[in-house]
Amino acid sequence: MGAPLDEMTVPEKMRAVVMRDFGGPDVLQVEDTAIPRPAAGEALLRVAAVEVSRTRDVATRTGGHPFSRQVSLPHVLGGHFAGEVVSVGEGVDPALAGKRMAVMNHRTCGRCAACRAGRDHECGDLEILGIHRWGSYAEYTTASAGILHPLPDNLGPAEAAALAATGPVALTQLRAAKAGPGTTLLVTGATGALASLLIALAQQLGATVIGLSRRPDTVRPAPGLTVLDATRPDLTDAILAATDGFLAAIDNICAPAVFERYFPALPHGSSVVVSGAIGTPEMPVLPVPARDLYSRSISILGVRSHTEAAAADFWQLVHDGFRLPAGLVHEYPLEDAARAHQDIEHGATTGHPVLVTHPTGENR
Ligand SMILES: NC(=O)c1ccc[n+]([C@@H]2O[C@H](COP(=O)([O-])OP(=O)(O)OC[C@H]3O[C@@H](n4cnc5c(N)ncnc54)[C@H](OP(=O)(O)O)[C@@H]3O)[C@@H](O)[C@H]2O)c1
Ligand SMILES: [Zn+2]
Repeated sequence: MGAPLDEMTVPEKMRAVVMRDFGGPDVLQVEDTAIPRPAAGEALLRVAAVEVSRTRDVATRTGGHPFSRQVSLPHVLGGHFAGEVVSVGEGVDPALAGKRMAVMNHRTCGRCAACRAGRDHECGDLEILGIHRWGSYAEYTTASAGILHPLPDNLGPAEAAALAATGPVALTQLRAAKAGPGTTLLVTGATGALASLLIALAQQLGATVIGLSRRPDTVRPAPGLTVLDATRPDLTDAILAATDGFLAAIDNICAPAVFERYFPALPHGSSVVVSGAIGTPEMPVLPVPARDLYSRSISILGVRSHTEAAAADFWQLVHDGFRLPAGLVHEYPLEDAARAHQDIEHGATTGHPVLVTHPTGENR
């Protein structure tokens, strides 16, 4: 049983974007539904902003993604978000009530061998918010208290939601790629949500970045960032000409035609870090010249997601002042979830599309 809700501030019903079937964006309909109660170890939060994710949300909604098979209908999508704790379940510190939090998109079991060894991103019993339980496309939702991170006072909810999952994943990837001063990172799909954060965070860690994009003119310029057209035939030479120091790739798109043109530019001891694969309509297959893996000591590393340690380190960077560059967060009212999905499917988005329960009109 959760602690009693404050009747003055929490109504019985909430608006939520409920999905009663898989299909196009119009399966996302706003409904009035009961506000959930936090179970033991959980908190109930008033959602302020939730990032719309291409894979976890949009691909799952279509019914054709492996995540879709793990969803029970009717369902509420939505993972990582920013919100305020309104009550807590048994075993959770009641002092959390009233605190503004970023909520991560999954909780690990804490018990399996991977979790015990600190490799919690490999947990065999991952529970993903908005897949295995109702998510945050709603005015209220519950989440494990172990995946809450307090927000600095001067960080708005839309930006906090944009940082909440991609930040820790980006930090995990940058560490795997050994990013730091004197290194250059190649980042594919540079206009995207994860890529735009990777670029900003790599620069914060002292690395320079080469961003590849099919829409190079829409990538936000930044000091130390070179943007190259991912479709140019002489991409290998252009990368070599732009490289200053050790080069590693972070490729969350895995478009084979782009891979085969950046791979020859990678130096001895380099790596390709992969946390996504959307470069072809069916599952992409990368053309890897196997001999180069040993003759040039190149590694291809899969990173499923963030570790909780990386999440804690990332939020410390945010408390120390790390922010997304302006112009990368795009607000949609909660009732426009279908439009946000449509924009992502049409390739019309850049940066972070975020649903907000109380629009500010801000478009950072
Ligand atoms: N493992 C994790 O925890 C995690 C978390 C977040 C995201 N991801 C993965 O990261 C990837 C990007 O996600 P996101 O949320 O950042 O998506 P996003 O905002 O939609 O960005 C994806 C970008 O990739 C490029 N792109 C899209 N389709 C492409 C195609 N068919 N061929 C080549 N380029 C294409 C586009 O960039 P340009 O137009 O600039 O080329 C697009 O802006 C996905 O694979 C996703 O699954 C993984
Ligand atoms: Zn585990």
